[in-house]
Amino acid sequence: MTKQKIRKAVFPAAGMGTRFLPATKSMPKEMLPLVDKPLIQYGVEEAIAAGCTEIIIVTGRGKNTIEDHFDRSPELEASLEARGKTALLEVARSVSSLAHITYTRQSEALGLGHAVLQTKQLVGNEPFAVILPDDLVDAKTPCLKQMVEAFEETGASILGSEIIEGPSISSYGVLKCSPSSWDARLLAIDDMVEKPKFEDAPSKNAIIGRYILTPRIFELIEKVTPGAGGELQLTDAIRALLKYEKVYGFTFEGKRHDAGDKLGFLKATVEFALKRDDLGPQFREWLKEFPL
Ligand code: G1P
Repeated sequence: MTKQKIRKAVFPAAGMGTRFLPATKSMPKEMLPLVDKPLIQYGVEEAIAAGCTEIIIVTGRGKNTIEDHFDRSPELEASLEARGKTALLEVARSVSSLAHITYTRQSEALGLGHAVLQTKQLVGNEPFAVILPDDLVDAKTPCLKQMVEAFEETGASILGSEIIEGPSISSYGVLKCSPSSWDARLLAIDDMVEKPKFEDAPSKNAIIGRYILTPRIFELIEKVTPGAGGELQLTDAIRALLKYEKVYGFTFEGKRHDAGDKLGFLKATVEFALKRDDLGPQFREWLKEFPL
């Protein structure tokens, strides 16, 4: 088992964001601002904090503002400089120097597996991370960093996982798994299923949008046939990977927000705003007065 460094992080961002219509009619859902930062930037910063140096974003039609966001903005910078707004200038500049970012396109929305497959050449023959920007994890040690540490122990593919109670489990990939004997956070996976009916779910252990995958996954995605929702599912390819390699679930420390969902997004906004030094105290006061 070779234990390579995780240098590359893939961000599928070609989805249509229908759960957020009408806001996402002409704006990528990945650019929805959580307080004052677009959703995808939280994920990119998490990947960098986990040691990744290459960010690969899978985009599609109507997603150009993602590229603009992470690019230099000479007009904005010149204007801020001329007005002596040095702190804001630093904010604008730092976004464009976060990491080396490469873009590739998914020209048809054929599923998460298909989105990841578009990065085959860019990733090459090394293990890599996948971050779904909708899943926002607020943690002391960034979630992907925790997973990279677990990968350094195991050398195996690792899937972020959390317990989901009730019927909403059927919106997730679900693991058939048992706790590993040597690390309480690692789950030994026997099988998995994408978006099962509630009554068929093999456990409450859902897959969340953080993955570390070995490169064999690409040849297995190439073989999968349309699964849940008629899409090429990443879960089905990982299920096939189980025949060749160990794959672990990982119970991360931290709180996940489903920011791709309106209610989840609102909750995340309130929590993140309350934690901010510049906004939190005033926002808290205002909330106390708010007639509920
Ligand atoms: C995707 C995956 C699913 C996973 C989920 C986590 O589903 O296919 O296995 O549980 O992300 O957010 P999606 O939310 O894109 O339908």
